[in-house]
Amino acid sequence: MSSFKTMDWVDGNLHLLDQTKLPSSEEIVICKTMDDVCVSIKKMVVRGAPAIGCAAAFGYVLGVRSLAKDLNVENMSSESCFNLVTKGKGKIYYSLLKTRPTAVNLEWALKQMQSVDYKEHESMESYLNAIESKAICLLKEDINTNLKIGEIGADFLGQCRSVLTHCNAGGLATGGYGTALGVIRSIKNRLGDINVFATETRPLLQGARLTAWELTKDDIPVTLITDSMCGALMQTREIDAVIVGADRITANGDVVNKIGTYTVSVLAKENGIPFYVAAPWSTVDLVTPSGRDVEIEQRNVNEVRGFGDSVWVQENLNIFNPAFDVTPVEYVSAVITERGVIRGRFDIQKWGNHEF
Ligand code: MRU
Repeated sequence: MSSFKTMDWVDGNLHLLDQTKLPSSEEIVICKTMDDVCVSIKKMVVRGAPAIGCAAAFGYVLGVRSLAKDLNVENMSSESCFNLVTKGKGKIYYSLLKTRPTAVNLEWALKQMQSVDYKEHESMESYLNAIESKAICLLKEDINTNLKIGEIGADFLGQCRSVLTHCNAGGLATGGYGTALGVIRSIKNRLGDINVFATETRPLLQGARLTAWELTKDDIPVTLITDSMCGALMQTREIDAVIVGADRITANGDVVNKIGTYTVSVLAKENGIPFYVAAPWSTVDLVTPSGRDVEIEQRNVNEVRGFGDSVWVQENLNIFNPAFDVTPVEYVSAVITERGVIRGRFDIQKWGNHEF
């Protein structure tokens, strides 16, 4: 396991390790309401596709709990109670859903929460307990899924000892252990050593601040490079594979992930290096035909103007700041999921139609 907790459910509140403060300090943000969770997702206190899904599930619990508190449940017929809760749940669902648009795990997790049927419960209390258990279960399942992806990935990558990763697809981006970094952790456990090159990942520096922090914390050697050094690294050093996470994998196998992933994939192909994606099945979106159909989050231009309190560009400069890009399926050597290793669009459809 990773040696830190990305999130924890403590006495009915969601505790989040504040990723905006890492690596300088390890601080916890306590979310007591659904709005606290929405703000934390928007501000990227919690980030990474599976992690925002898990956080949103707890946000849903907090939202429904406060809705139930506001209703005078005891004096209401179960029918009107059901109608009011159903209406309120819709608002809660959309408030959480619109926090970040690109990662499909958020929608997936909220749908899982909505699948808990109010009608199957005799009382509001029993329903509230059921959704709380569901959110706890999603978090546990996410960790177990990552452990499985790690094992499948380690089997698949075999003797791989030097890898490049982009952004942070680690314990911090998930319930724990990580997807791309989970595979790296599993390889380290088996082989004893592995060398990781991490891109800094402009503009929010998830690689420099988060990947470097969590790998160092778990004694995995990491070397930091700036994003523009990837080509030179591939030309001059032995890189066995590139491994990254994903925010959404569309029906045709395109991979939507942190801005810069596409560039790394093209460089990998040019240099004959396999480009792997590690992701849970909850990241696979068989409804959306291709990467072109995915809404790419556009973030505040201030993220490119500087970092923290430092601003290094002139005022009123035009700035483009998409948070994600699309790596076409042709550049993806394989996708490692908990269901198995997938190669290309036909494999995705095949695994998707399987009953699990
Ligand atoms: O903007 P972020 O930090 O949420 O972006 C995160 C990524 O792009 C990750 O690579 C992706 O979510 C996979 S995390 C297992």
